[in-house]
Amino acid sequence: MRLAVEGVTKDFLRAGVQTESNVLAAVKETSFSPEPGMLTVIMGRSGSGKTTLLNIMAGLLAPTTGSVLYDGESLYAMTDEALSAFRNRHIGYIPQGQNAVGSLSVKENILLPYLIQNEQGVDEQYLSEMMKRLHIEELKDARPVELSGGELRRAAIARGLIKKPEIILADEPTGDLDDENTAVVLKLFKEAAEQDRTVVVVTHENEARNYADALYRMDAGTLKKDALS
Ligand SMILES: Nc1ncnc2c1ncn2[C@@H]1O[C@H](COP(=O)(O)OP(=O)(O)OP(=O)(O)O)[C@@H](O)[C@H]1O
Ligand SMILES: [Mg+2]
Repeated sequence: MRLAVEGVTKDFLRAGVQTESNVLAAVKETSFSPEPGMLTVIMGRSGSGKTTLLNIMAGLLAPTTGSVLYDGESLYAMTDEALSAFRNRHIGYIPQGQNAVGSLSVKENILLPYLIQNEQGVDEQYLSEMMKRLHIEELKDARPVELSGGELRRAAIARGLIKKPEIILADEPTGDLDDENTAVVLKLFKEAAEQDRTVVVVTHENEARNYADALYRMDAGTLKKDALS
């Protein structure tokens, strides 16, 4: 599946911004098409617009101008219902911060993409292998409140990957992780890319450069391709 961001901008209205109109240009005109089969890494300063751009690609935030196309179909032209179904089916989104549902166990949280649509067909073997690799296997019956920040992060990653989505969009997925778990997570993403899926990872983690097939830098709302060193 081919993802294409075309001429996207995002303005936020915010008091105190140094312009007459109080408009903050969080994402300046951006066109970008991450390749299937590649692990695409986006780095950049805090506040440069990385999360905003990722949320726009994920169907969570409508851009001010421009469009997001999946195989030529415009994401924000879909009805809300079609958009939710599309996201659930094709996009594995791993947000910055926590997304665990407190009333569900860790295992149920990971399986949420199935539970939401009352879908069958969970690949139990994949689930158990992934929980093992992410070192959260023993936590499967625990509640999110009992987990550390890094454990919650790994559960969120498992949830994003469980349906083997064609598109994976991850926002600071290794933010709370130690070196060993960071390597586990980056390997999981790399494997997904090797299966010809499209993987975009926003990160501050320098180690991610060693796994990247393409590197971009976001600077004050402008996305630029960077050299892989
Ligand atoms: N809903 C919003 N309303 C107003 N301003 C916003 C909103 N969301 C983000 N911003 C602003 O847009 C800019 C870009 O934010 P964004 O979250 O995309 O940055 P980021 O690159 O992901 O930063 P970080 O590395 O800290 O996560 C920031 O200046 C932020 O304050
Ligand atoms: Mg962010």
